[in-house]
Amino acid sequence: MTGELEMRIEAVKAALPKYEDAKRIEHTLGVLSECVWIADAFSLSDEDRTALYTAALLHDITKSKTDEEQLALCEKYGICLPADRQSVLSTLHQYTGAPFAREIFGDKVVCGRVYSAISCHTTGKAGMSPIDKMLFAADFTEPGRKYRSCMQIREYLHGECGKINKNDKAALSRLLDSTVIKIIGFTVTYLIEKGKKIDGEMLSAWNAMVAG
Ligand SMILES: [Fe+2]
Ligand SMILES: [Fe+2]
Repeated sequence: MTGELEMRIEAVKAALPKYEDAKRIEHTLGVLSECVWIADAFSLSDEDRTALYTAALLHDITKSKTDEEQLALCEKYGICLPADRQSVLSTLHQYTGAPFAREIFGDKVVCGRVYSAISCHTTGKAGMSPIDKMLFAADFTEPGRKYRSCMQIREYLHGECGKINKNDKAALSRLLDSTVIKIIGFTVTYLIEKGKKIDGEMLSAWNAMVAG
């Protein structure tokens, strides 16, 4: 990466303690390290790396806010969610995080691709870009997550990637898709078992990515 891009990432990283406590920063840096692994495995360009690393660093920037603060930010940024989505409060930080991060760091740092990745990192969405998918996967497979499902999917992603020729972009893209599908499948099953609501965007992501 060029010096300028590296400095941009370092500046975002240095600002994190203003918005996240030590435990969340640990998770955020775990997501960043997983994104570095993905960027290397997928041979990303400097520009793609910068977008992915920035999104990783900023993805949970509003996560520590209360439900009331989340709803106030939704109002501030004109985020209108259907009633059933408003009740899935744990997902609101993806919608508030993107405009909040842009307000602080500007739209050069939080460009359209970073904005998109932050705003679907919890639920996914139909028509996710590769950067969206990479952040979505890394949030689940980062090394600090010790749940069995997270470790299994991490093992799958890393293990299968090792079997693919780095120049075979189509195979890498299929692996990224199947990783995202596994994460959504696990999450939906878990939510059903717990009798919890499923965000409609997650179902849209599922329907857009599975065949038939
Ligand atoms: Fe999050
Ligand atoms: Fe996260």
